[in-house]
Amino acid sequence: MTNDQPIGIFDSGIGGTSIWKAIHELLPNEKTIYLADSKNAPYGQKSKAEIIALSMKNTELLIEMNCKLIVVACNTATTNAIQELRAKYPIPFIGIEPAIKPAATHSKTQTIGILATKGTLNSELFNKTTEMYHDTKIIEQVGHGLVQLIENGDINSPEMTKLLHSYLTPMIDANIDYLVLGCSHYPYLIPQIKKILPGHIHIIDSGEAVARQTQNILKEKVGFTSSKNNQPIFYTNTNSKVLAEILENKYTVEQRDF
Ligand code: DGL
Repeated sequence: MTNDQPIGIFDSGIGGTSIWKAIHELLPNEKTIYLADSKNAPYGQKSKAEIIALSMKNTELLIEMNCKLIVVACNTATTNAIQELRAKYPIPFIGIEPAIKPAATHSKTQTIGILATKGTLNSELFNKTTEMYHDTKIIEQVGHGLVQLIENGDINSPEMTKLLHSYLTPMIDANIDYLVLGCSHYPYLIPQIKKILPGHIHIIDSGEAVARQTQNILKEKVGFTSSKNNQPIFYTNTNSKVLAEILENKYTVEQRDF
């Protein structure tokens, strides 16, 4: 079964490109369309109803663009809106959720840390997941301010270092051995985080798992593309500079209103 329609991917901004990179690496022939809704970032402090409305807006544009499958490359949108998206639109959705399971399963200190948005940590879906691991102490920390700094291109700023120190120090003191990055923006902070965490603490995100899941759904239900050399398409509804930079200026980024 082949299917030459594109894969649609959206996030509240540029962070979901960490997921796009994992998908593109595993499925380099697939045509992808990425929407960065940076105008409305951060989603993490919005109400569930607002997150659902924004996720539907992004979904409808990707459906209009003839996508065959949609990857919700945002933990906040997945944990707050994926059930509503699946109920409304007849297209397969793949979501991203914090990788609590592998961290809790492998932790030797039975203490793990999670850094995510307020919207993710407060969601019913996230809380249902953590209930399954009641033998593990889970230290939750909202990453206040991190998404805004990343969206502004201030990844290596002293302000970022200061915020990360304040969020991670209590986790180090509590003896975590796994740190879960529960927001698709945060993999861009890994070099900074590594400077702060002792070497024995593992950092995990969900990018590769989402890429593998995308591959499985294409194989089982949707179909892989038969064409080669598809150029990925990136749209942003704000200034395209930061998105282009996070993609190392290798791809064209178009600005459009959505
Ligand atoms: N990148 C998103 C996530 O994975 C959302 C960040 C935000 O907009 O607050 O949660």
